[in-house]
Amino acid sequence: MTKILFLGDIFSKFGRLAVKRQLAGIIAREEIDLSLANAENASGGKGLSQDSALELFDYGLDGLTGGNHTFQYSELEPMMDNDGRIVRPANYPTPCPGRGWTVLETPGGVKVGLGNVQGRLFMNSNLDCPFKSCDRILEEIGKTGANISIIDVHAEATSEKKALAWYLDGRLGALFGTHTHVQTSDAQIFPEGLAYISDAGMTGPHRSVIGMNKDESISFFLTGRAKRYKPAKGDIFLEGVIVNFNQKGRAEEIKTLKIKCEEY
Ligand SMILES: [Fe+2]
Ligand SMILES: [Fe+2]
Repeated sequence: MTKILFLGDIFSKFGRLAVKRQLAGIIAREEIDLSLANAENASGGKGLSQDSALELFDYGLDGLTGGNHTFQYSELEPMMDNDGRIVRPANYPTPCPGRGWTVLETPGGVKVGLGNVQGRLFMNSNLDCPFKSCDRILEEIGKTGANISIIDVHAEATSEKKALAWYLDGRLGALFGTHTHVQTSDAQIFPEGLAYISDAGMTGPHRSVIGMNKDESISFFLTGRAKRYKPAKGDIFLEGVIVNFNQKGRAEEIKTLKIKCEEY
């Protein structure tokens, strides 16, 4: 069996601190073989800087996925090109920095393919089809001899994520939704062994509007005018899922993780 941890969007320095304080304990307690996370909000709540990426690897994460905020820091582009531990959604039009999938290895030598796509519904409609993009990711990961494949679908609509899960069941080990920052209660194993959750949640401040300070958000909804959002503080939770895979790369068990962290 191979046990893999996936954390929902790490948000701001508070999310990074939660990873710093909690991750080693979770890995030891749960006997995790590989630790992954969505990190599109890890720096100031929007984007991922090189320093934050290195910090998260230091804390023990093995791979980072992205989303609509991934391209916020152009300084990350060379790192995205060169560091095989970082993926961004595969379905951005080319040319685009970075890679849409990668292969990581557990300490026990199990090869794990990690892909990333972004949804189009209520999001960026200029992207390529996420369904066909997953077909290509799986075809390419298949050639590497990876034992397990996982995809982070960064999307707003649960319908798009759920349809994608049915489309991929039997060909993929796990499909984890991200982007809404709200952990859903639908973690499940599909009939052909795909582990699924519509959203893994958010590792960051929950006394907020999806991570940001509530005042600017309320003002936006009242006036229609967007002001600069500030990351919130308080009520920090680490959220994600843990999945157990068998030797055939099929998921046998998925459980959600929601850990209240001390205030930093
Ligand atoms: Fe996010
Ligand atoms: Fe997002």
